[in-house]
Amino acid sequence: MELFATAAKGTEGALRDELRELGFRRVRATRGGVGFPGDLHAAMRACLHSRIAVRVLWSVGHFAATDGQALYDGIRSFDWTPHLDPRSTLAVKASCRSSKLTHSQFIAQRTKDAIVDQLRDRQGTRPDVSRDDPDVLVVVRIAKDQVDVYLDVGGGSLHKRGWRTRIGTAPIKETLAAAILRLGGWDRERPLCDPMCGAGTIAIEAAAWAANLAPGLGRKELGVERWKSFDAGARQALAELREEARAARRRHRLPPVLAYDVDPKMVEATRANARAAGLHLEVEQADVRELTALEPPGFVIANPPYDERLPVSRELHRELGAMVRRLPGHTIALLTMGRDLERAIGRPPDKWWLVHNGPLECRLLRYDV
Ligand SMILES: C[S@@+](CC[C@H](N)C(=O)[O-])C[C@H]1O[C@@H](n2cnc3c(N)ncnc32)[C@H](O)[C@@H]1O
Repeated sequence: MELFATAAKGTEGALRDELRELGFRRVRATRGGVGFPGDLHAAMRACLHSRIAVRVLWSVGHFAATDGQALYDGIRSFDWTPHLDPRSTLAVKASCRSSKLTHSQFIAQRTKDAIVDQLRDRQGTRPDVSRDDPDVLVVVRIAKDQVDVYLDVGGGSLHKRGWRTRIGTAPIKETLAAAILRLGGWDRERPLCDPMCGAGTIAIEAAAWAANLAPGLGRKELGVERWKSFDAGARQALAELREEARAARRRHRLPPVLAYDVDPKMVEATRANARAAGLHLEVEQADVRELTALEPPGFVIANPPYDERLPVSRELHRELGAMVRRLPGHTIALLTMGRDLERAIGRPPDKWWLVHNGPLECRLLRYDV
């Protein structure tokens, strides 16, 4: 069986490396995510342990379609009765690119029609649609007229870890923070500091990674638990996976994780979020201009304000340039938009990546100083 884990654009390589490290085999990064063979057990394990995957999708099937009728027929050709019964609720999430079918809402509608028509014909009644809290979330991805149909094993975006009670003005998703930590090269041994932490997303993801705290443990349930096909054997397997994940948590010899922000409200938000996650961070109010070398030298990973949503001053960019120069022996990774920060730092990064923060195309700059 084929699984597909989706990732923010630009982080597919990081997700591939993470899944390999978690023991998944034949993992291939492609646009928008990573494909790999695996059964439902593997899918549940990926949902519990991947920090970077946004969704873990279980393949129902694949066909070609260039119009609504072919789409409807293709969807109806699959047997939906193992997954849904007439009491189940359903939602469809669709996306398309470089195809004759161009409207994701139309694609979602035809897909839903085909599924409910099949169930009505076979079982006499049809399942209802629930956009916000469906029992079964069907995902349709169309690229170059090829239709891939999946069920969402997690049942929603996996960035929702369950600990974020407070957010700041421009938060990044937990899944993106995890990708940035991996691309930034953090070794989970040396100290890590986010000196502009906002609500603490990067620092809390770092502390969770260092503690080997499985990101899926905070979710109340996975989507798969509400599928008709989720039987006693699958329930037992998931309970065992959760138990193993709990037992694998590391509680000693953890590296220092520091989170600073100039705004006292953000300091309080980070403290509250860290408490909710059950993780220990050193959280202080401080200006990034005062940041001195970590002892021993470590990693500074942050997303400074960029002009899209927060006012950014040339002076702050200049200060960040000065920070890079005064921290020899450190690795510094900064998520930014445009080229201004790179210019202010005054040298090209040692590595950089284009990554998408929601709709925003950003650059992750890494300096091995
Ligand atoms: C884009 S937000 C960070 C968001 C964070 N990654 C999150 O997910 O919540 C940038 C943060 O930088 C902080 N900041 C701005 N200027 C600063 C300075 N001079 N020193 C420290 N923090 C600063 C802001 O208060 C804001 O919380």
